[in-house]
Amino acid sequence: MNIIPIKHIGIFTSGGDSPGMNAALYGAAKAASTHGIAITGIRRGFEGMIDGDFMELDENALQGAVHQGGTVLKTARSERFRKLMGQKTALQKLQEKRIDALIAIGGDGTFNGLLAFSEICKLPAIGIPGTIDNDLTGSDYTLGFDTAVNTAIQNIDKIRDTAESHNRVFLIEVMGRDSGFIAIHSGLGTGADGILIPESGDDFIRLLNKVRHYHSEDALIVVVSEGDELGVDLVASKIREVNPEVDLRITTLGHVQRGGNPSAADRMLGIRLGAAAVEAVLAGESNAMAGVIQNRLSLTPFDQVVKQHRVDEELQGLLKMFNN
Ligand code: F6P
Repeated sequence: MNIIPIKHIGIFTSGGDSPGMNAALYGAAKAASTHGIAITGIRRGFEGMIDGDFMELDENALQGAVHQGGTVLKTARSERFRKLMGQKTALQKLQEKRIDALIAIGGDGTFNGLLAFSEICKLPAIGIPGTIDNDLTGSDYTLGFDTAVNTAIQNIDKIRDTAESHNRVFLIEVMGRDSGFIAIHSGLGTGADGILIPESGDDFIRLLNKVRHYHSEDALIVVVSEGDELGVDLVASKIREVNPEVDLRITTLGHVQRGGNPSAADRMLGIRLGAAAVEAVLAGESNAMAGVIQNRLSLTPFDQVVKQHRVDEELQGLLKMFNN
């Protein structure tokens, strides 16, 4: 491998924010300064790259942000970067700033963007999995997933209090895009009566059977992933069809799952991956994502990362058992 000495890293957060991104920025800044390398923040992801919106990274300020959710660099989903014109402008801004390597914290959209960018930009680029959805191959867990699940669990517990007081059926929609990880983890962790995820269609039939015999003697909690093929509203109307007696409410947890102080696990993951990304850049790696697999650091090429991490057979088996 031909290792070109790196002097100046540009780092950015992109796509949906996730708790732990600030810890990753701190990990990267610390590793860079330890190696005597400059590191500059690029604000608002690819949007800021196109606009040349750079920000000096203050290691002390980042140290003080490790416990904060969101991202101090701000983030965005960029339409302009999808076009060659946007990418060419971004490249020009990076060259003007004399940045010679990139670290991106984001999800599959971010890494797809970097792959497309690599056609015209030959700067080495390393990714860090930053998304609450946990939908990336190449890391057992993504930054923010653990916090999002804990937030979902805390809220579902609260809903259970009111559901049990009224003997109501509650459908609780959680995030996750096309992936059911947040639904499975928060549903099993709260003793939900039903969990519906995009990866498994027949759980809906099990749920309808349960509801058919339900006589409002207790609460019934169902966690529905936002990517479920039916969707929470249709599930609600089907439930009402098979059992018109149910007193049903729908709660969408929404963006509350994206915010909040990162959990201990996400802080640690962020620090580890931030430092690992810098080490990878310095080792001459490129177009790969730093992750943790079985508690060991790993690097996975972007083109493999963008294939989705699916809920595995073990979790699907658990789901069937608990949905019965
Ligand atoms: O990818 C993270 C995520 O929070 C998904 O779970 C959700 O579908 C999406 O982002 C929401 O995106 P936005 O904040 O742009 O509405």
